[in-house]
Amino acid sequence: MTEQTQYILAIDQGTTSTRAIVFDHDGQIVSSGQKEHEQIFPKSGWVEHDPVEIWRNTRAVVADALQQAEINRHQLAGVGITNQRETAVVWDKTNGEPVYNAIVWQDTRTQRICNELGGDEGADKYKERVGLPLATYFSGPKIKWILDNVEGAREKAEAGDLLFGNTDSWVLWNLTGGQNGGVHVTDVTNASRTMLMNIDTLDWNEDIAKDMGIPTSMLPEIKSSSEIYGYGRKNDLLIDTPIAGILGDQQAATFGQACFEVGQAKNTYGTGNFMLINTGEELVRSENGLLTTVAYKIGDAKPVYALEGSIAVTGSLVQWVRDNLGLIKSAPEIEDLAKKVDDNGGCYVVPAFSGLFAPYWKSDARGAIVGMTRYINKNHIARAALESTAFQSAEVLEAMNADSGVDLTELKVDGGMVQNETLMQFQADILGVPVVRPSVIETTALGAAYAAGIAVGFWEGEQDVIANWSEGKRWEPDMDDETRERSLRLWKKAVTKTFEWVD
Ligand code: G3P
Repeated sequence: MTEQTQYILAIDQGTTSTRAIVFDHDGQIVSSGQKEHEQIFPKSGWVEHDPVEIWRNTRAVVADALQQAEINRHQLAGVGITNQRETAVVWDKTNGEPVYNAIVWQDTRTQRICNELGGDEGADKYKERVGLPLATYFSGPKIKWILDNVEGAREKAEAGDLLFGNTDSWVLWNLTGGQNGGVHVTDVTNASRTMLMNIDTLDWNEDIAKDMGIPTSMLPEIKSSSEIYGYGRKNDLLIDTPIAGILGDQQAATFGQACFEVGQAKNTYGTGNFMLINTGEELVRSENGLLTTVAYKIGDAKPVYALEGSIAVTGSLVQWVRDNLGLIKSAPEIEDLAKKVDDNGGCYVVPAFSGLFAPYWKSDARGAIVGMTRYINKNHIARAALESTAFQSAEVLEAMNADSGVDLTELKVDGGMVQNETLMQFQADILGVPVVRPSVIETTALGAAYAAGIAVGFWEGEQDVIANWSEGKRWEPDMDDETRERSLRLWKKAVTKTFEWVD
């Protein structure tokens, strides 16, 4: 009997949807399934997801991808998981039920908790230990909110019945058995976004957990990004299949983009934008508003670190223009409007919907549209909305150049919005360096597939990832220095108009 061809399955549990993608040995997509889940906005500034819907969608998209590829679980050498980071799920291990909706990374309800935790020491209180400023973005304060506000949750947590996880752990626990023996594990990259992990020793910091009133028994075991964590549960689609890779989605994209050398960077254009630069085995502390984070850790090898510039709102601004303003019917139409005008007409959209992340870290900022005159029409607003993604990325790149002392000479990009030619050209123009898109733009799922495939010997290591990477398209900058400098100056002025908006 001839051996059946083997593949790797990646599950990408993202902010707006969950996807399952089957990859072959060349890193090419064989099939994929995708399902959006509801975005729940109970109050201004609050963003939630239903974890049960997310798990249901995960099963549905895995089934869909396998069916489309016409393969069965015996042809899967392994499964990798990648996920929206920071989003906090707390569930009861005795019945598998979440005690509250997942509190999403974009949610700002924990602003008061963060202020109180910081006290006189302010936002940098834990930075030396965890690499992050105290901000509503991270998981720890979200767990505290659930324990403080959901009736009976704290008692159950203290009795050892509740588990916390980002959506990687939630999916893994369910895939491997749920209340009948699910594995409660996360990887170093996800743990590095909780505010609870020591960034140098990669274990939980009990003092910070205590400050936040979080019993450490709730926390998943921290493992590397590439090893076998467990196997698919009995009587299910992925029965006995090794689950062998976990990477937070931005770290997965960094891996899928083959940024293995110090100084290599990528920018992913998703719901938000996230630029990561590999700093190697060295833990670099930013002086310019970037986060110190773990890029990946392959099995027993040493961890590789990164500096990250996180931007909360980029792609989700396009959704807002579609759903809340009704200017377009589908997201790609924004480019049609933007192309009808030569420039933004002096209008700037600053989408500080979740406050401002990098490099400002201002939780009390809120969005603004500035520079309005009667000349401005919906095409200018559409263009300004698109440009805001490029401006925000330019500010993050400036911070990276300042922190590293070396100017980046080109930027690798990926994610849904890189299909938008107008945006990519403007991005190259405003950065003043070439922007390069790989031929496979699903680098997030691909990175998770590589992490799993390396753990099970499907791929040998980073050299296979490098060999499979190829350039798809390149945009060269084409804007004079004076225009670029003036645009950036006006953008920065617009940003200042959003500061200290919340009472
Ligand atoms: O930190 C949040 C990030 O992981 C979310 O990424 O692609 O789901 O918007 P995405």
